Amino acid sequence: MSKRTIRKTAATPAPATRGQGTICIQGGYTPTVGGPRVLPIFQSTTYKYEDLDQVERLFALKEAGYKYTRTGNPTVAAFEAKITELEGGTGAVALASGQAANLLAITNIANAGDHIVAASTLYGGTYTLLHRTLKRYGIETTFIDPEAPERELQKAFRPNTKLLIAETIGNPGLGILDFAKFASLARKFDVPFVVDNTLATPILCRPFQLGANIITHSATKYIDGHATSLGGVMIDGGNYNWANGKFPDLTEPDDTYAGTRYVEKFPTNAYIAKARAQYLRDFGACLSPFNAFLFNLGLETLHLRIQRHSDNALALAEFLSTHPKVNWVIYPGLKGNPNRARVKKYFQSNAASGILTFGIKGNTKAARTFVKNLKVAALVVHIGDARTSVLHPATSTHAQLTPEQQRSAGITPDMIRVSVGIEDAADIIADFDQALRGIGR
Ligand SMILES: Cc1ncc(COP(=O)(O)O)c(C=O)c1O
Repeated sequence: MSKRTIRKTAATPAPATRGQGTICIQGGYTPTVGGPRVLPIFQSTTYKYEDLDQVERLFALKEAGYKYTRTGNPTVAAFEAKITELEGGTGAVALASGQAANLLAITNIANAGDHIVAASTLYGGTYTLLHRTLKRYGIETTFIDPEAPERELQKAFRPNTKLLIAETIGNPGLGILDFAKFASLARKFDVPFVVDNTLATPILCRPFQLGANIITHSATKYIDGHATSLGGVMIDGGNYNWANGKFPDLTEPDDTYAGTRYVEKFPTNAYIAKARAQYLRDFGACLSPFNAFLFNLGLETLHLRIQRHSDNALALAEFLSTHPKVNWVIYPGLKGNPNRARVKKYFQSNAASGILTFGIKGNTKAARTFVKNLKVAALVVHIGDARTSVLHPATSTHAQLTPEQQRSAGITPDMIRVSVGIEDAADIIADFDQALRGIGR
């Protein structure tokens, strides 16, 4: 298949506006007459060219096209185009994992000697990346309590601060981000605002409309939705002025690409163009075409699944909140939860996604029996699956922390995290009920 045909079938520009459900099904790929209706898997590392001149133009970024699957592939491009449209951005780069997406979102614009401001409630992997690993590479992070007053948080910013990063829904704390406050801080200090939108997905929350400049996802979670594949993606909002003097890597010539100035050459998505050209090339954390195919399939039902995850989570949260064997329940959509007002303010359709936590009476001992008793739900170190999953963070993801460190991370010995699936709510509830009643029998 010629390069022209590939570019025509995949990653087709989208119409100006259409509904999220239509984008989920039809975004990113438009079949040609006589061509496959379903996005094909282009399982090829290489592409064929007319002549040396064409390859030279590609390697100087003077012509758009595929060079090698590490920096771009038609199936991956279709997934990137679909998620770009869902988030309302200007371009995306798909990556090998959510962890790689957050790493690249940061290192694309922060170098040794730079500083980052991050919400202390970030997912543990992102926290460790910033707190330990990037520190070794000379990038320092100040962690802030996202609930502190704006005036307090302003003190964290420095002249060399290069970005502000937070999650729409914290994992596992489940706090909903105060977008107005964070967007105001980012504007005041003129730094890009990076939002990890993994738990909310673009169906529930559109961070670019709330002041974000870059969005990241662990596609491994709800985008896949069936626990089959690892992957990540970062999306450019095309709404940050990179030519403000703070980001010379985007405005000065890149001599590894014939002196390309990203801001000039790619005015709407310089950030993504640079990430692809430099860091997919150098770090190589690209998404496989097969995983892109599965993520595209996952996105086709995301709008239906996330609503069902949310409905089931609310039903389970309501049930658990009156259960005699339960100490407490945290679910942002639950009546009485302090984050409910932000769900109403920032989320579509009042749905609050599928993750909840609860405290089990009897702590770790009771948790052991409860987990063994479950029949519908399973003990799994994962979230966002169609199947209901549970985890006891104190003996798994946070087991290496001291009890004091666990407490400050919001992890208690009674905490059970639940990723509520899309089975029948009545069956999930009955399963939790019998598993809880079975404790101490
Ligand atoms: C909010 C969030 N961001 C990023 C990640 C990392 O994603 P991955 O496991 O795909 O590397 C996770 C994983 O749990 C997550 O929950």
